[in-house]
Amino acid sequence: ESAFIHRFEPATSAGSPPLLLLHGTGGDENDLVGLGKMISPGSALLSPRGRVLEHGMPRFFRRLTEGVFDEEDVRRRALELGDFVADARQQYGITAPVAVGFSNGANIAAALLLLKPDALAGAILLRAMVPLSDPPKAALDGKPILLLSGQADPIVSASNSARLAALLSEAGARVDHKVLPAGHQLSQADVTLSRDWIGDVE
Ligand code: MLT
Repeated sequence: ESAFIHRFEPATSAGSPPLLLLHGTGGDENDLVGLGKMISPGSALLSPRGRVLEHGMPRFFRRLTEGVFDEEDVRRRALELGDFVADARQQYGITAPVAVGFSNGANIAAALLLLKPDALAGAILLRAMVPLSDPPKAALDGKPILLLSGQADPIVSASNSARLAALLSEAGARVDHKVLPAGHQLSQADVTLSRDWIGDVE
């Protein structure tokens, strides 16, 4: 069962990679469309709505409390998202997307990278944390990943985001980790850095 409510916007220019947009807790498939267009105008946009509800707020996996995840659900939902991406690639005729995830969306993107590396061409992880305490040995083979953390993020500690960067690097990804003078919310620097980074990888 990989049916996600989602929004799809076809590419308007040929050279840009498709983006998989993954919203934060309480968001939906419309949230990151504007961000996607700013980061990579011309890219196809595939934007699913998280299927888990927490007090009515859509998310991509269950958590026990803030920052404490139901890891069995993380694994199951990440694979389900991978199936959705595979189906959408067929349906819309797109190549493997670059994930752009914020908060809970960044965490499911990180889980997908670790569990099913082929699903994504790369990722921009905005305010991500380590999604699995005992992740499988993934082969990320040079996949480009931009990790942007907030220096004053009350949800993601500096050591946690550093651990995630190390985990992805050890799995072979090409990780660019920057810590911004920001909290958990996004800042203008996130947009600018993401846009510059994606311009360099494509
Ligand atoms: C999560 O649950 O994925 C993280 O706590 C981030 C959030 O959604 O607030």
